[in-house]
Amino acid sequence: MPTRNLGLDLMRATEAAALASARWVGLGNKEEGDRAAVEAMRLILSSLDFRARVVIGEGEKDRAPMLYNGEELGQGEGPFWDLAVDPVEGTRLLALGRPGAISVLAAAPEGTLFNPGPGFYAAKLVVGPEAREAIDLKASVADNLKEIARALKRSVRELTVFVLDKPRHARLIEEIRYAGARITLQTDGDVAGALAAVLPGTGVDVLMGTGGTPEGVIAAVAVRALGGGMQMRLDPQSEEERWNLIHAGFDLEKVYPLEELCRAEDTHFAATGITDGPFLRGVRYGAQEAWTESLVIRGATRTLRKVEARHRLEKLRGISPVAY
Ligand code: FBP
Repeated sequence: MPTRNLGLDLMRATEAAALASARWVGLGNKEEGDRAAVEAMRLILSSLDFRARVVIGEGEKDRAPMLYNGEELGQGEGPFWDLAVDPVEGTRLLALGRPGAISVLAAAPEGTLFNPGPGFYAAKLVVGPEAREAIDLKASVADNLKEIARALKRSVRELTVFVLDKPRHARLIEEIRYAGARITLQTDGDVAGALAAVLPGTGVDVLMGTGGTPEGVIAAVAVRALGGGMQMRLDPQSEEERWNLIHAGFDLEKVYPLEELCRAEDTHFAATGITDGPFLRGVRYGAQEAWTESLVIRGATRTLRKVEARHRLEKLRGISPVAY
């Protein structure tokens, strides 16, 4: 018997968050843009017929407004879903009106998502399905690129690697260039980078480098549901973070395979574009209406939907307190 696809409900939460935060595109205020998205996402999630608990909330590292860890949401009964949320992934992109900001949300059965404890940052390696067996975070950058190229039946020169443009990546960028691959350097947004590496036709083949750990767990849900490959290793960026991780019993050498980052098949993932990106258009406005583009992915069936929606703003404002 076909069962309910929770992802379609979750998409309403990412749509609402995208619509609310899109009002802040380019206004230079990432906190308010984030707050608008958090409030809209919380409102929709609270109304859904399910029981969920936020296990990966976003915002702690920069004290942004947040859906906090442990927050319970929903009106339903039955087993808890664990939620990993990022109402605005790419708050700076939103504030500056740059491409690549998305609203994103993942759900998995209780206890099946990796808990990074006090770890804010992790090194990530992500590829699409054809190259999933070719990656090894313990091997060199050059060896990984050679194996990925072999799996994709291309030369290394024909690979494009997504890397966050951060000072910590100076050496990584050098190594990728020395190996001969092309790079797309983006200031923010490595969930979108991971999706771009896994989805066909985006022009991105690999994601490499260190970004947020919550973003890594959210991406892992989508990567697993799409049959891609991913590995992650905690990569603390301060002495305090390193100490906290060691104190909490984490092994900083351990490479986490995808199956440990997301231990379930029965997952749901939804993302909506806020600003234009490589696989989702951002929010667009018409007379009293707005358009959104979303992805909905179901792990159990590996169904990937792309949903374009037209929202009648005066109708929404009539039934909802969200600032559409
Ligand atoms: P925010 O949406 O919280 O601003 O995160 C954006 C982001 O670029 C993530 O995609 C990435 O994982 C993380 O920040 C990298 O952190 P930092 O900017 O501190 O290097």
